[in-house]
Amino acid sequence: MCGIVGYVGKQECTEVLLDALSKLEYRGYDSAGIAVFQDGEIRVSKTKGRIADLKEKILKEGMIHGGSCGIGHTRWATHGEPSDINSHPHGNAEISIVHNGIIENYQKIKSFLEKHGYVFESQTDTETVAKLLNYYYNGDPMETIQKVLGDIEGSYALGIVFKDFPESVYAVRKDSPLIVGVGEGEAFIASDVPAILKFTRNYYLLDTDEIAVLSGGRAQIFDKYGTPVEKELMVADWDMEAAEKGGYEHFMLKEINEQPNAIKQTVSPRIKDGMPDFEECGMTAEKLASYNNIFVVACGTAMHAGLVGKYVIEKLARVPVTVDVASEFRYRDPIIGSNDLVIVVSQSGETADTLEALKLSKRLGADTLAIVNVVGSSIAREADMVIYTHAGPEISVASTKAYSVQISVFYLLAFLLSYARKMISEDECRRLTSVLESVPNMIDMILKQEKSCQYVASQLINSENLLYIGRGLDYALSMEGSLKLKEISYIHSESYAAGELKHGTISLVTESMPLIAVATQRDLFDKTVSNAKEVKARGGKVIFVTHDYINVDDDVADYKIGLPTVDDILMPMLTVVPLQLIAYYTSVLRGNDVDKPRNLAKSVTVE
Ligand code: G6P
Repeated sequence: MCGIVGYVGKQECTEVLLDALSKLEYRGYDSAGIAVFQDGEIRVSKTKGRIADLKEKILKEGMIHGGSCGIGHTRWATHGEPSDINSHPHGNAEISIVHNGIIENYQKIKSFLEKHGYVFESQTDTETVAKLLNYYYNGDPMETIQKVLGDIEGSYALGIVFKDFPESVYAVRKDSPLIVGVGEGEAFIASDVPAILKFTRNYYLLDTDEIAVLSGGRAQIFDKYGTPVEKELMVADWDMEAAEKGGYEHFMLKEINEQPNAIKQTVSPRIKDGMPDFEECGMTAEKLASYNNIFVVACGTAMHAGLVGKYVIEKLARVPVTVDVASEFRYRDPIIGSNDLVIVVSQSGETADTLEALKLSKRLGADTLAIVNVVGSSIAREADMVIYTHAGPEISVASTKAYSVQISVFYLLAFLLSYARKMISEDECRRLTSVLESVPNMIDMILKQEKSCQYVASQLINSENLLYIGRGLDYALSMEGSLKLKEISYIHSESYAAGELKHGTISLVTESMPLIAVATQRDLFDKTVSNAKEVKARGGKVIFVTHDYINVDDDVADYKIGLPTVDDILMPMLTVVPLQLIAYYTSVLRGNDVDKPRNLAKSVTVE
C-alpha cells in the first residue's frame, strides 16, 4: 500500500527521499513522486511506474539538487487508475501533500469545494484534502491542519509542505501508519521503520490526530489542539542488514532461510523453566483458561496461521476456537462477549480489516490479544495484550517467516492452556515445549534439501491450474501452500479438504492438473493416500509431502518430498517450509518479480 516519507535536514533531500522510498517498495505500489523545495518554490515530480522511472524523470527535470526539505510517496491505486496525474504529491504551488489511506467523505468535500470554484484534476480522494488545506489556509499551518482534521473522515497518514514554510514538513495520522524519525540535526517521517534505518534508529510513534512538525533539524509533536506532547523515543532493534538482501537473490528466499532463527527469537523469551510463560504480556495461565471461547481474526497468511492455532488449541486444550477472515468477521455480527478472547494476528500490525475487527471485539467486551511483528504498530497499540513475534522485518510481499513465528506462538499458547485446563500433565507440557525448541534445527535440515523443491517447481511451471489437498492440520497447511504458490507464480491454485475433492472438484483432474497432497498427520494418512490414488487413476500428476521414513507407492504419487518426523501436531512447523520453497522456485522459474508480485501490497491499510 502507499508509502510516505519526508525529510528535513542538511543532506541532499531528493536523494534521501528516493532512498527512503526504495525501502518502502516492498509495500506494493504503482506510481511514485516527490515534492521538494528548490529556490523557495515547491517542485513536484511524479510518475506512474517504478522508483527507477521517477529517478529518471527527476534527473531530466533537474531536481536532484532539491534542497533540504521535502516529502515523497509510493502510490497503490485505490481511487483512480495508476497514472501520472493520480500520483502523489497533490496540491499546487502553495501546498503539497502525500497521503496513505482513504478519505471516506471525499465526495462531500469535493462538492463543497467545487461550489467554491475549485477545479479537480485527478480522480483521487487525496486531492480533496490538498484543496481543503488551500481553502482553510490562513498563513498558520497548524491551525489550517486542525480545521482540515475536523472535516475529513476515514484513514490517513499525511505529509504536508507549505510554500511559506520552506524548511518544514508537517505530518498527521489516523488509522494509517506513520513514524517520526530523529537523527543528528535531521528529522524524517515514514510509513515504516525500514525507510529510515539507514539514517537513524530513533523514532516516535504518532498517535491519532497528533501533528508532527519537522523543522530546524528536529521534530516536535503536538496534540490536535496544538499543545506540545512529550513522546517516548523508540529505538528500532532492526538494523540495516535485516532490511537488506544479504547475498540472497530475493528477500523471500532470505526470509525463508531466516525461519530457524526467527522461531528461536520468538519462542525462547516465552519459556521460563521449561514451561510456556506469557506473563510479560499480562496473560497468565489462569486467565487463559478462563475464556469460554477463543476467536482468531486475521487476513491472508496470518489467518492461515490462525487455522493451525485452532486445530492445535482445540486438540490439546478442548476450548472451541473460531477462525475468521477479518473482513467477514466485522460484518457477520459475531456473538462474542466478556468471557471470550479474541486473538488478532498480523505481521504488519496495520491491516485495516484486522484493526477494525479488533476495535469491534473491544466494543463487544471481549479481551483482545494481538500476535504482531511490528513493534508499536496500530494493532499492537490497540490490543489489550500483545505478544510480539521477533521475526525481524519481513520485506517480501509473500509472508513466510511471519507465518512460522505466528504458529510457534499458537503452539506455546496451546501447551499452556492445555496444561492450565489439566488436559496434559506438567511433564507433557515441558516435553512438547522442548520439542518445539528443537524445531529450528529440523528446519535447517529441510532447507538443505532445496533441490527436491526446485525439481517439483520445474514440474509445475507450465501448469495453468493446480490443486492442494490435505486433512486436518494438513488441510490448514495446504491452504497456505496454495496461497503462497498462486500469489507469486500466478498459477491458479486451490486448496481442498482431501475428502471433499470427490464432491465436485475431481472433475477438473486431467494430466495437466498437478496435485500436491500434504499428508503428515499419520492417523489420517491412509485416507489421503486413497484420495491421491483417485487422482492418479484419472491421469493427474501427484506430489506427496509426508514423513521421510514413509514410502509412497507409484500408484499414489509421482514424487515425494520427505520431512523429518516430530509429533504430528507439530508437523506444520516443518511442512510449511517445502511448500514455501516450491512456491518460491516456481515463481523464479517463471521469471516473475518474486518479492513484489503484481497487484499485491505487503501492508493492506485500506479496507
Ligand atoms: C497482505 C499480504 C499478506 C499478509 C496479509 C495480512 O495480503 O500480502 O502476505 O498475510 O496482508 O497482513 P498482516 O500484516 O496483517 O499479517
